Amino acid sequence: MNLRKRDHLKLSLELDVSFEEKTTWLEYVELIHRALPELNLDEISTETSFLGKTFGMPFLIEAMTGGIPEAAKINGNLAEAAERFSIPMEVGSQRAAIEDEKFEYTFKVARERAPNLFLIANLSGVQLVKDGVEVAEKAVEMIEANAISIHLNPLQELIQPEGSTEFRDVLKMIEKACERLDVPVIVKEVGCGISSEVAKLLEGAGVRAIDVAGAGGTCWAKIEMLRLREEDDERKDVAKTFLEWGIPTAASIIEVSSVVKIEVIGSGGIRSGLDVAKALSIGADMAGAAHPLLRPATENVESVEKILRRLRSELKAAMFLTGCKNIDELKNSPHVILGPLSEWKKQRASKV
Ligand SMILES: Cc1cc2nc3c(=O)[nH]c(=O)nc-3n(C[C@H](O)[C@H](O)[C@H](O)COP(=O)(O)O)c2cc1C
Repeated sequence: MNLRKRDHLKLSLELDVSFEEKTTWLEYVELIHRALPELNLDEISTETSFLGKTFGMPFLIEAMTGGIPEAAKINGNLAEAAERFSIPMEVGSQRAAIEDEKFEYTFKVARERAPNLFLIANLSGVQLVKDGVEVAEKAVEMIEANAISIHLNPLQELIQPEGSTEFRDVLKMIEKACERLDVPVIVKEVGCGISSEVAKLLEGAGVRAIDVAGAGGTCWAKIEMLRLREEDDERKDVAKTFLEWGIPTAASIIEVSSVVKIEVIGSGGIRSGLDVAKALSIGADMAGAAHPLLRPATENVESVEKILRRLRSELKAAMFLTGCKNIDELKNSPHVILGPLSEWKKQRASKV
């Protein structure tokens, strides 16, 4: 049994696992209110294209779970709701099912419940180094995925007792995966963000989209620290020191989107449709969230749909109030960048 995944799920459901102090910095992005929208609310379309496909809104459900029996219900509910809203969904790391076939059903349920869903497989970069590109092919095949995301989580691996810090050659393996796989490869973080330097390397390796998964939402140093709370383990102290580590989501979106031509997903602490609108305005092509959908997914499809409906209504409201009738207009809408985010942009200007 995959105890690690069960711990992650339990802690994420029962405790506050978000950053204590660091925020996404999306509060330093102001969209400009337009008192004359000159359009009717019902003329607004949230339709968008991503990886060459059309979706109902620029939002995807980020990787969370699989590999334990309770994950089957979660993945099934997320998949059905995502299909109804015509948005992509990622499963959690498929490592458990690669290692033991008897857990495959906890991932396959997503495809079974949603045959037309744009489904994204998920594995870690260190897993590719350990087991080769074949595991990525296996992960895609397992769920008939339309794309695969590879997660980079050096901070989490550093603190996690079962973690691997063998990060040498991850980029080389990502490049191989891009060459070998028939589906697009996305690379994501898990809550520490992606810098412009890393983004350029990933684009050069052939990656089709980068998901920043920046700091300000779910905090993995905290989750791993909580797992160790009863243990006499030095990693607990290391986790504490690095609790606020990472590039805030808004800064990461600017870092990445200013230097690459490939598509960018803004995630990490996206909690409303207004956050989605701000992420797109500063350079993202899509936004994504994980944690807000977890509890609803343990209930039923309707609970997940309720969150997605709210996000869509808030996104439409932001578009109405900025006079944008479609996503292209939103991406080009004016905004002001304030405070630390403005300072970050200035200091990193030579890079971003
Ligand atoms: C319970 C839980 C499990 C997660 N498991 C994975 C995983 O298996 N693979 C992965 O790439 N990211 C995983 N993530 C990270 C998310 O996909 C996402 O990048 C991150 O949580 C930031 O988004 P959020 O602030 O909206 O939660 C997980 C997140 C949560 C909350």
